[in-house]
Amino acid sequence: MTTAAATHGLTALFRALRSPHDKSRRNVPLPAGPAVTPELPASLRDGAARGQAGSAAAVVFDRVSLAFDEQVVLRDISFEIPRGAMRILLGDSGAGKSVLLKLILGLLRPDSGAIYVHGQRIDGMAERDLLKVRSEIGMLFQENAIFDSLTVDENVGYRLYEETDTPRAVVRARVEEVLTFVGLQSFIDVMPATLSGGERRRVGIARAMASRPALLLFDDPTTGLDPIIAATVDHEIVKLRDLQHVTSLVVTHQIRDAYYIATHQAVQRDNRVTIVTADDQTAAQTEFMVLHEGRIRFHGPAHELLASRDRYLQEFLFKTLPPW
Ligand SMILES: Nc1ncnc2c1ncn2[C@@H]1O[C@H](COP(=O)(O)OP(=O)(O)OP(=O)(O)O)[C@@H](O)[C@H]1O
Ligand SMILES: [Mg+2]
Repeated sequence: MTTAAATHGLTALFRALRSPHDKSRRNVPLPAGPAVTPELPASLRDGAARGQAGSAAAVVFDRVSLAFDEQVVLRDISFEIPRGAMRILLGDSGAGKSVLLKLILGLLRPDSGAIYVHGQRIDGMAERDLLKVRSEIGMLFQENAIFDSLTVDENVGYRLYEETDTPRAVVRARVEEVLTFVGLQSFIDVMPATLSGGERRRVGIARAMASRPALLLFDDPTTGLDPIIAATVDHEIVKLRDLQHVTSLVVTHQIRDAYYIATHQAVQRDNRVTIVTADDQTAAQTEFMVLHEGRIRFHGPAHELLASRDRYLQEFLFKTLPPW
């Protein structure tokens, strides 16, 4: 890869997404040393006792709080995402959804509380150790973050081309594979500027999954897309959950898309993948969390959310679900 953008790369992008504000106190890499607590506390280690699959959940927030100066964004938030599960995070604009994702990536550090990713405590982790944690996470950025000066191939294979010793032919084959997964295999050598908004978003999904991360974070994957194109993005997210069994956290304020993702499932027969309506039991496995005024106001499956008698939730749903 020869362009200037390539020399900056995703690592630089992660760095650029750090706070430009006065959060430096919390966001500078901590000094190297025994800051890492490698083990979960016993209360979180016993997955069975907590009704969760596996001994270490993919993500655990244990009483996490974060404020920017006077503005408290998260207040004592606790939740966990079992491996292979999907959580959909809803909330008004400014509720703290992207901040929560940045905490998972270690791009922001909490004021208090503990954050575990794949069993490792990351809230006090040194930057060089965080790189390893991040290599297991694929992120679809709210801002898309596609490099316009690189081809689709170079964008999608970025991490593998730049940050691993994997032979180029092997990376190219993986790029073809993930582009096929999102239905864009014929676009491999084009420049992103020629793509539609929905296609760019799907390139972003292909890039997020290219290095086979165990955890995928989607920040507002369908905002700004028309409903037909948004549905194609929803399908990719459903396919990743049901066919690749990746743990995922989908942040959105598009309740229509969130509901669609929760109530549909991908089925593969021979080489054909179809998206069908999920039965109630399957749909209930995708849980929703609603962030409001720094707290998780609701946590549960779609049908409970829709039936909620909570005033705020009813108004939130009324604003965003048909009939308008
Ligand atoms: N680095 C930062 N420094 C100071 N304030 C910040 C920083 N990042 C986020 N905030 C503030 O924290 C709040 C939550 O921001 P966040 O980006 O998480 O919102 P969001 O829920 O993702 O909203 P949207 O749906 O519009 O994307 C906002 O008020 C935002 O201005
Ligand atoms: Mg956001």
